Amino acid sequence: MNTNRNHFPIVFIILQFLFFCSSSEVDRQYVSGGSHNVKGSKPRLVTLGIIDGKAYLIDENIRTWKETDGYCKRFGMEMGAITSPGQLAFLKSAYNETTFHAGYWLGARDALLPRQFSWEGSKDEVTSLNDLTWHIYVDEPLTCLVYASQTTPSITLRPCEYMGMRALCEVK
Ligand SMILES: *[C@@H]1O[C@H](CO)[C@@H](O)[C@H](O)[C@H]1NC(C)=O
Repeated sequence: MNTNRNHFPIVFIILQFLFFCSSSEVDRQYVSGGSHNVKGSKPRLVTLGIIDGKAYLIDENIRTWKETDGYCKRFGMEMGAITSPGQLAFLKSAYNETTFHAGYWLGARDALLPRQFSWEGSKDEVTSLNDLTWHIYVDEPLTCLVYASQTTPSITLRPCEYMGMRALCEVK
């Protein structure tokens, strides 16, 4: 585990708090039914480690992207972001065929901006319309990113409503 020891005390306190939450509030909610989780499975936040002053935590229950966003936020966390080579290297090294081995939603989704569009013929980015006002009538993101933890990790693009990915959360 890559532990930045300068942040250890505060992160330890946060993790204690998270453990408290995950063993009370969440259990109650999921045990009382109405969730998509596999029967008998309980949400369980597991710390992957600390890198760049933030802790990554995972939960193995599958959800949609939006559900995952709500799940992380319920604990005062954000969905996981990978914003430095060190963070990517950390996640690669955290691969484990039993404990960290599947698809985890990232906190990244379609930008609803010109830069996500390309002209059908040339595949060139749509830049010639930037002077116009863009009205966006999309309430929810449609495509979201997944970090696929494998021996050779990859990024998967999925419909955000796909109910089949696990949670990667982060807390600073
Ligand atoms: C994967 O995780 C399990 C459970 O924590 C552990 O026993 C095992 O040693 C890990 N495997 C590797 C390759 O680190």
